[in-house]
Amino acid sequence: MTEKKATNITWHEGAITKKDRERLLGQKGVVIWYTGLSASGKSTLAHAVEEKLFELGRVSYVLDGDNIRHGLNKNLGFSPEDREENIRRIGEVSVLFADTGVIAMTAFISPYRSDRDQARTLVPEGRFIEIYVKVPLSVAEERDPKGLYKKARAGEIKEFTGISAPYEEPLKAELVIDTSELNVEESRDVVIDFLTARNLI
Ligand code: ADX
Repeated sequence: MTEKKATNITWHEGAITKKDRERLLGQKGVVIWYTGLSASGKSTLAHAVEEKLFELGRVSYVLDGDNIRHGLNKNLGFSPEDREENIRRIGEVSVLFADTGVIAMTAFISPYRSDRDQARTLVPEGRFIEIYVKVPLSVAEERDPKGLYKKARAGEIKEFTGISAPYEEPLKAELVIDTSELNVEESRDVVIDFLTARNLI
């Protein structure tokens, strides 16, 4: 639990509500939380979904692990504590996006179940969609687009997820998409069909 240091602060409620913004945009503000190993295809899938949503006239935004670690979370590494803080901040940011009525999509390994569950508690029931982008470790390692698995195996990167740091599989993900079995378009359509079936878009 993160300590709250600020005192003498008061929540200010504006006159325009989330519902008003959703009505304006004609969509629901939701958080789509992609989780999975490095090179599982989280970012690729999230961006493919973003493109399809754009085509459909829906506003979404992808918060991507590698990108966010260049800025907002540049002071965090890959220890369990830093990963927890990484995910805590992203959980909070994704809620802000969803509050604007936007479809917020997060693409972080987010290896710890408790951190993902914590992010889920910030969003109303039915508005947090956890997607396990599943792939056998051997496939992720074979893809190795950034050469990181190779470095991790050689001991050049410590605490690498799947090699020398844990990945806790989701137990109650809304969707499980195996990107070694489905291609990008098929995976994307699974997500779009889910959003449509739930009346979220
Ligand atoms: S998380 O575990 O805190 O959720 P996040 O998704 O932000 O991780 O960042 C993962 C990305 O950082 C990987 O895709 C990879 O490019 C890079 N990376 C660098 N070092 C590590 C490491 N030790 N473990 C996992 N990913 C790493």
